[in-house]
Amino acid sequence: MKGFILLALAVFAALQKQADTAACTCTTMKWVNCEGSSPNCACKITLDDGYRESIDCEKLIPKCFLMKAEMFRRRIGQDVRLNIGGKPNEHAIIDNDGIYDPECDSNGNFKAKQCNKTEECWCVNSAGVRRTDKGDKNMNCSKLVETFMVRLELTHKEVKSDSKVNVEALQNSVRNLLQTRYQVDPKLVKEVQYDPDGRYIVIDIEKEKGDRTVNLGNMAYYMEKDLKVSPLFSNQTAVQLNGGSQKLDLNKIVVYYVDEERPTITMQHLTGGIIAVIVVVVLVVVFGLLALFFINRKRQQRYSKTRNGESNN
Ligand SMILES: *[C@@H]1O[C@H](CO)[C@@H](O)[C@H](O)[C@H]1NC(C)=O
Repeated sequence: MKGFILLALAVFAALQKQADTAACTCTTMKWVNCEGSSPNCACKITLDDGYRESIDCEKLIPKCFLMKAEMFRRRIGQDVRLNIGGKPNEHAIIDNDGIYDPECDSNGNFKAKQCNKTEECWCVNSAGVRRTDKGDKNMNCSKLVETFMVRLELTHKEVKSDSKVNVEALQNSVRNLLQTRYQVDPKLVKEVQYDPDGRYIVIDIEKEKGDRTVNLGNMAYYMEKDLKVSPLFSNQTAVQLNGGSQKLDLNKIVVYYVDEERPTITMQHLTGGIIAVIVVVVLVVVFGLLALFFINRKRQQRYSKTRNGESNN
């Protein structure tokens, strides 16, 4: 009997061990191949043809690696961005350019100068967002400027008109989501505001200036992907918030980036539409002035002709 129990325990222990050494998956990234078996997993992300970078799947994967991997997947035809508008301050910038093929250092940080493999270059912040005007390939970006604050503007889908969103429950739910899903230290969440009419949830995340241990661009990128495309996490569960008596599905996100130094980008707030209107107005004024000028000249010519005619008589 004793022998049998021991045997059963041994079998159980062996099964347990087998369960522990399960195949490796990368929880924070779906497009990753892992070798070995846990806890000795070696996971690598493919950044380019034959170029794979080792990554730590316990953490969010650096945005620079993610963008590079996405550009590679696009090139080989595998997989995929949108925008609306409140700046946290006048120097906040939005990513209007979309994705490009970035240059990353070995830690997954963006290089300060990015050229998207073309002759046209620009300087980016630590979140990889353009913060200067574009220039040629001799452009000088002396250092990578850190993004120390992000404002996330989320919109949730419509809820039944009879159930009101409980703001406190929502705020708690936001903080909880940020911590569990995006590994954001709750200390960094400065404010969570809610506007029931616009169904806006505005989240301010801010770290100390000078802090280089946390990268706010990474978490913002994961969230953008969650809401605009599909989750980057291997577990594809959708993001949901709790509004007290109901679950809230999110459908839009705008991210504002505030850097330790003010950006030198010009006309950032002028969207394509406004620029088009300005161009049209300027053209109308110029054509109007030209037309007036020619009409006047014609009149003067005709006037002098008739006067000449008179003197001949
Ligand atoms: C970078 O280049 C790709 C094509 O190679 C293009 O689709 C993309 O829009 C470019 N991105 C920027 C920000 O210029």
